[in-house]
Amino acid sequence: MSGGSGDERVRAQYEAYPYPQRDPKDEARRLVTGSPSHPLEIDHYLFGGRRDWRQPFRALVAGGGTGDGTIMLAQGMADRGCPAEIVYLDVSAAARRIAEGRAAARGLRNIRFATGSLLDAAELGPFDYVDCCGVLHHLADPAAGLAALVRALSPGGGIGLMLYGALGRTGVYPMQALLRTLTAGLPDAEKLALARRTLKDMPASNWLARNPYLADHLSSDAGFYDLLLHSRDRAYTVPDIYDLLDGAGLRLVTFIEPLRYDPASYLRDPALRRRLAGLDPMQTAAAAENLCGSLKNHALYAVPKSRPGDTVARPDDCAVPVLRDADGPTLAKGLTPGAGLVADLGGVRTIFPLPRLAAAILARIDGRATLDEIRRALPSAPDRPSFRAEFDALYAVFNGLNRMLLRFPAAAPG
Ligand SMILES: C[S@@+](CC[C@H](N)C(=O)[O-])C[C@H]1O[C@@H](n2cnc3c(N)ncnc32)[C@H](O)[C@@H]1O
Repeated sequence: MSGGSGDERVRAQYEAYPYPQRDPKDEARRLVTGSPSHPLEIDHYLFGGRRDWRQPFRALVAGGGTGDGTIMLAQGMADRGCPAEIVYLDVSAAARRIAEGRAAARGLRNIRFATGSLLDAAELGPFDYVDCCGVLHHLADPAAGLAALVRALSPGGGIGLMLYGALGRTGVYPMQALLRTLTAGLPDAEKLALARRTLKDMPASNWLARNPYLADHLSSDAGFYDLLLHSRDRAYTVPDIYDLLDGAGLRLVTFIEPLRYDPASYLRDPALRRRLAGLDPMQTAAAAENLCGSLKNHALYAVPKSRPGDTVARPDDCAVPVLRDADGPTLAKGLTPGAGLVADLGGVRTIFPLPRLAAAILARIDGRATLDEIRRALPSAPDRPSFRAEFDALYAVFNGLNRMLLRFPAAAPG
């Protein structure tokens, strides 16, 4: 690592408080899933829905922590029978031991564990995919970290990142500064105890007290330490992220969930929505961030600018819609006709209108049927253009909320 004693402090923190707090025993009852790095998302956004999982796949999880991304990816590849190698890399040996315990609990044999800095990631490459979730913002030089990850990518590959969001973390940095003063020189356990007392005693006017969207510190010691006692972190606005990607020769494919980055999701006034409709993608996403105010993390996919063409799956007759972590018929039953879909966007309760055929289409999504098969199975048997208008309206909501993705099984079974 090249950030001197700052790097050593970050490593020491994750030796003492591996993040997130996980127990390998819990693997028996649940799989932790999230973004980035869900296999359906990787395929949809980086490989046009045409990734053939029968072919070898190499992924790097840079700053793998206690293993959430590694285990999700390794389990997903094992379930697909993909000859994959998932390389876990982290500076913390304590975090690695927990991740190894989780892999062992699941009997996963497709993970290679490495201890070291992501700045040396290229030595382990090349990779079809690189995950770096919640790590770059702890580096002395995040741009150098991202450049190192790009060097580890194969030319046709892509990256999934998560970086802290500046606005959503309102209140974090003044509290970190205060706690640094209050807890200087104390051992970790005493720092934590004093910091917790500070939060109980802080005035209602404090910006952390006034930010109800932050909850990481409420769940565990590791979460508390990570949010409020971290020795080094920074946060990004949407334009900062565009700059960071640009500097590394990357182009943004999408933020997750896309609808969070659409200002229209937060506004009802049609005049305002019209004014915002003509903005370019960065201005659009920045306007959404400024409006919403509570985006505390930015999850995204990006590809090298040198990769030609569109890497995103787009609906057509042969596309198979797949619901993420949900079952079509159950979802369909849960919808009230005309009521729309209620979603939580960064803590904001939002209702998205759904098209007339929403429930009928959802009920026929089984992860195998193509759009054309779904159309022909509908009792009303709509013609292609009317069906596409209905499906596109449904897709705008469900894909926008990251609940529906597409794949093309003729090219990529499984
Ligand atoms: C907030 S945790 C995120 C863990 C995991 N990616 C996740 O999302 O659950 C950050 C992790 O990055 C690791 N880390 C920090 N700097 C690193 C570096 N230069 N190279 C590799 N890992 C690093 C830490 O040890 C820690 O495990």
